[in-house]
Amino acid sequence: MSNRTFTMIKPDAVGSNYIGGILDKINAGGFKIIAMKYTQLSKEQAGKFYEVHSARPFYGELVDFMSSGPIVAAILEKDNAVADFRTLIGATNPAEAAEGTIRKQFAKSIGENAVHGSDSDENAKIEGDFFFSMTERF
Ligand code: PPS
Repeated sequence: MSNRTFTMIKPDAVGSNYIGGILDKINAGGFKIIAMKYTQLSKEQAGKFYEVHSARPFYGELVDFMSSGPIVAAILEKDNAVADFRTLIGATNPAEAAEGTIRKQFAKSIGENAVHGSDSDENAKIEGDFFFSMTERF
């Protein structure tokens, strides 16, 4: 079990000025930020990041949305980081997200759902490496 996960604050949440509120909840949840950047994905980059979902019906919509505005990308550290962060963000569909979760508080819809969290240790490493070089993390 790794102690790192990867997250993005998505364009809907950045556009609604929720960066501060979401980072507060991440810190309050016991996660330490060990790398962070404010950036915007090109369509090509978003397509590559979400390639694993390319056969799903919403892939085009997801790629358009994720490249539509700035995001905040970060690597987070905590024991049991991947599973604990998935609990903190709540269900993919905010209508099903538990009280107190980030998506319950900040997400608009299943497509525009405020935050991403890696679904495995393996993907956390791949996704962190997608955004951060060795000199950009601690
Ligand atoms: S997960 O997190 O992989 O278990 O969730 P999953 O349901 O497989 O969704 C994968 C990512 O696709 C996004 N998603 C959607 N986007 C647009 N429209 C619809 N209907 C939709 N359903 C799911 C979802 O937010 C996941 O993005 P990430 O960035 O991984 O959270």
